[in-house]
Amino acid sequence: MTHSPLPEANLPGRVVSITVNGETIAVEAADEDTLLHVLRNKMGLKGSRFGCGAESCGACMVLVDGIPSYGCTTRAVDIGGRSVTTVEGLALAGADILLQAFLEEQAGQCGYCLSGILMSATALLAETPAPSRAEVVRALDKHLCRCGAHNRIIRAVLRAAASREAGIQ
Ligand code: FES
Ligand code: FES
Repeated sequence: MTHSPLPEANLPGRVVSITVNGETIAVEAADEDTLLHVLRNKMGLKGSRFGCGAESCGACMVLVDGIPSYGCTTRAVDIGGRSVTTVEGLALAGADILLQAFLEEQAGQCGYCLSGILMSATALLAETPAPSRAEVVRALDKHLCRCGAHNRIIRAVLRAAASREAGIQ
């Protein structure tokens, strides 16, 4: 019996050390494995979503060293030694006010887009604590919400900024 070669995706990869949500983990990744694939399928962090796989929807957005980055096109092997924050790590990143604001504004319907949107909103508020509506719209421009919850999402980010400014925890 002859064996066909293993598909490339199953070839053993390199061991990469990635800090995810404050914890440094060594994980094996093939050259073509995306960060999203590794997060979801090797680390069990299912919060970041796959939508388009082509930087067109933002469902996969995570923070890499604090910068919003597409998990669907970023190669895991390029993330060695860097710090990744996913939606599961938002509480650690001090985003409780943001999460509360999304609840209060009922910002979302199915929720599929929200894990990515929350990451971009977190990065925005870290850099611009009191953004204008236009700045929020610009920061979330890379994200699609198929439920059409955009207005509530924008209100939630503005509410979070206002709550933080007022010192509300
Ligand atoms: S899945 Fe990454 S941008 Fe759509
Ligand atoms: S809440 Fe459903 S896609 Fe945004």
